[in-house]
Amino acid sequence: MSERPIGIFDSGVGGLSILKAIQEHLPNENLLYFADSKFAPYGQLDEEILKQRCLYIAEFFAAQNAKAMVIACNTATALMAEWLRAEYDFPIIAIEPAIKPAAKLTKTKKIGVFATTHTLKSERYHSLKNRFAQDVTVFESDCPGFVEQVENGQLDTLETIALIEDNLQPMLADDIDTLVLGCTHYPFLRPAIKIVAGGKKLTIIDNADAVSLQLTRTLSDHQLLNFKSHQFDKFYSSSESENQQVIFQQLLSKDTEVQYINH
Ligand code: DGL
Repeated sequence: MSERPIGIFDSGVGGLSILKAIQEHLPNENLLYFADSKFAPYGQLDEEILKQRCLYIAEFFAAQNAKAMVIACNTATALMAEWLRAEYDFPIIAIEPAIKPAAKLTKTKKIGVFATTHTLKSERYHSLKNRFAQDVTVFESDCPGFVEQVENGQLDTLETIALIEDNLQPMLADDIDTLVLGCTHYPFLRPAIKIVAGGKKLTIIDNADAVSLQLTRTLSDHQLLNFKSHQFDKFYSSSESENQQVIFQQLLSKDTEVQYINH
C-alpha cells in the first residue's frame, strides 16, 4: 500500500520546484510527475478546459494506483482544489501563495506577490489576504511572460531579466522587503530575481517546503508513508516538443527520461 506512488502535476515544468522539495523531505517516496506543457500557461486558460485537464491528470494518476496527489500549481489549486477533493478518494495536497509567512516577516509592512492572473483574481486568494494580510500593503503582478520563459528554459537571459525588472522595480520603489513567489514556475527565476533586486534587501519566499511538510503530515495521518526504499520517479509531459527532456534535465540538474502523453 505505502509503496504506491504520489502523483504531482502542474501546467508544465514549474511544479518540478515542488517535486524537488518533496524528494528532499520524503526520499523514500515513489513519484509520478505530469507536466501539462501542451496547455501551459494555465494562468488565463479557459476554466472549463482547465477543469478537463485536471480531471484527465487525476484519472491518469488514479490509473497508476496513486496513493495521493499534489497539485503543484497555485492556479489549479485556486480554481479546482475543492472540486478535485470532492471527486477523488485519495488525499489531495494543494499549494497557495505564501501570504501568511510573508505578512509575518515583513518589516516595512509592504509585500509583493508574483502570481498568475487566475490566482490573483480567485476567491481563495482574496480570502487568504483577508485572513492573514490585513495589516500589510500587498502589491501584485501577474508577471506576463514569466511562465513561458521557464517553460523554454530561459532562466536568466537578457529577455527574462528585462521582464523581471518591469515587474519588480515598481514594487521595490514602493519599498517592499518581502516577495512571494505565488506560482511554482517562479522559484526557477530566483537567481535572476536576486540579480534584479541588486543590493536591495529582499526576502523571497515560496511554499515548496510548506507543501512538502503538509504532504508528510497527510501521508502519516493516513498511514501511507513509505518506509521501504525508493524505487522510481516517472516523468510525463503532454508536450511533444523534443526540448522537454532538455528542460527537465536543466531544471532537475540530472538525466531524466520524459514520456510523451498524447492527450
Ligand atoms: N505553475 C503554475 C502556478 O503555480 C501555473 C502557471 C501557469 O501555467 O500559468 O500557478
